Amino acid sequence: MKGILVTIDGPAGSGKSSVARQVAGRLGFVNLNTGAAYRAAALLALREGADLSDGPRVADLARRVGLDPGGASIDGKRVPDPDLRTPEVAAAASRVSAGAGLREVLLPVQRAAANEARDGGGAVVEGRDIGTVVLPDAELKIFLSADPEERARRRARQTGREGELDRIREAISRRDRQDSEREVSPLKPAPDAVVLDTTELALEEVVTRVLDLANGLRRGA
Ligand code: DC
Repeated sequence: MKGILVTIDGPAGSGKSSVARQVAGRLGFVNLNTGAAYRAAALLALREGADLSDGPRVADLARRVGLDPGGASIDGKRVPDPDLRTPEVAAAASRVSAGAGLREVLLPVQRAAANEARDGGGAVVEGRDIGTVVLPDAELKIFLSADPEERARRRARQTGREGELDRIREAISRRDRQDSEREVSPLKPAPDAVVLDTTELALEEVVTRVLDLANGLRRGA
């Protein structure tokens, strides 16, 4: 029997990764973080000294990027997560992800990884356009939102950079703008997504709501 696909989209700091990890763990599903593929493409472009505004060049480099539940790889070699989590790579990923060519290259990579995971039981797939573009037929689509100030505070706490709240707030609002105003696959909820505003919710409350929805689906299946 095929498992189910749960998509979790939303802006930086909305709680996607924490929620996706917890939900996947408790359902016994794998967790696929598609942002890692965009970050790996950005890291590779930076390493190769590519011009980040050169869409075809970045797209070409991205053919070397792989994705699986363990994370992203370049030329078949796992990229250590800390290498993908630097502020430079985050900013570059947001920039290059506006490129239609890059998105076209990464689309089948994300779909293949998700379908493989689904065949293995089920997957929670997180990103920005998973419910709208990558997996429009997913059984459950969640869109997490949260007030930008709260998202900046969460990011500062997560990364131990509480003293840099102003800089983090600014970086988040720049990424919000880039991610939601781009022409290709902008960040927005799918028409059939359940939108959860997490500003006032603890992680556990969000996880419980998503689990209730997923379990309801599984019972109905
Ligand atoms: O989720 P993240 O912060 O790791 O994502 C890094 C960047 O990649 C983010 O700025 C937007 C982009 N991204 C995207 O455009 N589409 C996705 N499905 C996932 C990430």
